[in-house]
Amino acid sequence: DKAGHRHFMAKEIAEQPSVLRGALEFYSGPGDEAPCLPEGVDFAAAGRVVLVACGTAYYAAQVAKYWFEQIAGIAVECDIASEFRYRNPVLGPRDVAIFISQSGETADTLAALRHVQGRVGQVLSVVNVPTSTIARESDVALPIHAGPEIGVASTKAFTAQLLVLALLALRAGRDTGRLDADTLAAHLRDLAALPGFMAQALDRGEALRDIAAELGEARDVLFLGRGPMYPLALEGALKLKEISYIHAEGHASGELKHGPIALIDQHVPVVVMAPRDALFDKTMSNVAEVMARQGQVILLSDRAGLAEAGPGIAHGLAMPAVPDLLAPIVYAVPAQLLAYHAAVYRGTDVDQPRNLAKSVTVE
Ligand code: F6R
Repeated sequence: DKAGHRHFMAKEIAEQPSVLRGALEFYSGPGDEAPCLPEGVDFAAAGRVVLVACGTAYYAAQVAKYWFEQIAGIAVECDIASEFRYRNPVLGPRDVAIFISQSGETADTLAALRHVQGRVGQVLSVVNVPTSTIARESDVALPIHAGPEIGVASTKAFTAQLLVLALLALRAGRDTGRLDADTLAAHLRDLAALPGFMAQALDRGEALRDIAAELGEARDVLFLGRGPMYPLALEGALKLKEISYIHAEGHASGELKHGPIALIDQHVPVVVMAPRDALFDKTMSNVAEVMARQGQVILLSDRAGLAEAGPGIAHGLAMPAVPDLLAPIVYAVPAQLLAYHAAVYRGTDVDQPRNLAKSVTVE
């Protein structure tokens, strides 16, 4: 049932405020002191956090790497399951391994989980299907409560994975003593505001329809971001290529001049994901490099960021101003909508893109 939407993907994008509200309720305990996570989750003795996943779930893991390091001060290893399992990763009894999978059946992620069993202190999973193999074979499974995701391109599962990973990072910060009670309470208040910000991002995202039509005419599109917005750039590029079949690449903004800038001319749209955070000015210097080569910059930022960027950008989308912790979750919305509207414009099969399966149970 598409609930009045043209595609499951549109429905699932639109559902995100209510999905995240539900997940927040599920993980909120009495009072505000800490996220209420299942028995057995404990980072007090964690030497390292090891994050493993595939595809979009891997990009969620890459965002979480920043959170665990910044909030909890724990060293993080983050890898794609199909690489991790074949490279004899160095593991230790104090490592907490976290496997992220919407379906809970992805063959490489499951094989990586089996590889670490008995070699690490704790095996957690972040899954949408609580009865899945990955959920059953982990010590503790944390459901993301996204509800069934039918569209092949992952949308609401990504943002719900991010929410649960943020809660885990906050818990880790509390367990390690790095996060004081006031800061933890402030982060939890920020998370409580997330469904409202997602709704605002959806409203403003309607303005992306025309911009997406321009992307739909492009042969190549670049996505740029820094810090936790770098994995979002990768996710934006993956979404666009998998459903619209337009060639897209995500890059860390600072890497542009180390090669990808050679691709830029007036025919290449460059989507820049840049909330007005501590890295904003650095990203803007990369935007200037793109504009100097006639690249068409589509800047996703808040009003202050757009004002600072000034004229010269091809398009700006005014996002709500959000706390740093929420930015990678809220900016997933325009990434999804750009891909969705570009695919609709191109007339591709949005929910069932060619060559792709919802659950990848072969290696
Ligand atoms: C992209 C997408 C895939 C999945 C990947 C992992 O939109 O959906 O990249 O994220 O195949 O799948 P799960 O999360 O089921 O392990």
